Amino acid sequence: MQTNPPHTLTFTRPDDWHLHLRDGEALAAVVGHTAAVFRRAIVMPNLKPPVRTTDDARAYRQRILAALPAGSDFEPLMTLYLTAAMQPAEIDRAVDSGIVHGVKYYPAGATTNSDAGVRDLADVTAVLERMQERDLVLQVHGEVTDPAVDPFDREAVFIDTVLSPLVRRLPKLRIVFEHATTREAVAFVTDHPHLAATLTPQHLLLSRAAMFEKGIRPHLYCLPILKRESHREKLLEAAVSGSPQFFLGTDSAPHSRITKEAACGCAGVYSAHAALALYAQAFDSVGRLDRLEGFASHFGADYYRLARNQDQVTLTREPWTVPDVYPFGAEALVPFRAGETLPFTVSTSGATLGR
Ligand code: DOR
Ligand code: ZN
Repeated sequence: MQTNPPHTLTFTRPDDWHLHLRDGEALAAVVGHTAAVFRRAIVMPNLKPPVRTTDDARAYRQRILAALPAGSDFEPLMTLYLTAAMQPAEIDRAVDSGIVHGVKYYPAGATTNSDAGVRDLADVTAVLERMQERDLVLQVHGEVTDPAVDPFDREAVFIDTVLSPLVRRLPKLRIVFEHATTREAVAFVTDHPHLAATLTPQHLLLSRAAMFEKGIRPHLYCLPILKRESHREKLLEAAVSGSPQFFLGTDSAPHSRITKEAACGCAGVYSAHAALALYAQAFDSVGRLDRLEGFASHFGADYYRLARNQDQVTLTREPWTVPDVYPFGAEALVPFRAGETLPFTVSTSGATLGR
């Protein structure tokens, strides 16, 4: 615990190891927020249609680069969407391309644009074996989809019924447990040193009660859903532990205001506009800002076997107020903490960001 929390903190520029950038107008609306602070991001492939092949990833990467603000050095790290139709040769193409850094496993029906996902991991055994051979990371959305399982239990049941058998069958396959939300996920990852987990700002800052504070809060609905406070405490403990198995992945997931504020609202919290400031607030709440650099800027790069960034970012204990809304093509995007004042401001090489 730090006794004298610093007013400013300068450290290695971070990367976001789990990000949704979408496509078209939505992409153009959001990519600048991430690129202003993060040097790189693992870009999720759940477009419509999904990013299934290395060629798809190459084309999507070009669209992302074209949408960046002038002069940006942001580097998108691409992923492929695992489907039952994928062949092992696609893994070879992906690794050889140098632009694909993982394959994302969505259990079919688990979340936004996951219909093309995998129903049974037995359908993709040869692909997973090739990934293990070629040392390509599998990124998992760790929730079962069985409607009989309570939504708050879907992560823990996934660990017992899907992940644990998978790790036994392919003991060298490197797996990132994306957006971990439970103590069970933290314990499982900790027990398997070749695995890692990303943690989102909303799961570090909020428990499920926040979704019902004075009414229903659709902008706090994401998947996996926020869990009870005792889980949040375990996640934050893991984040600040200094363990290289836990690192930053926002899962920033933009949806237009009308699709969130609806009778059947979409899952996803948009956090790219304030991501690093949000993580800083979480770390500061337990007096561990000194552990932020490893979590935000070192451990993910190390896990993905990429060089750490050379440039720096500065965090200042200076409040800023999040806008109520951002433009989102012809629609509006309501960001996490809309209209609220955050305690930290972020700047890179002289520019103050996030305002
Ligand atoms: O809340 C979520 N939104 N969880 C996911 O897994 C997907 C994401 C999205 O793409 O909107
Ligand atoms: Zn996601």
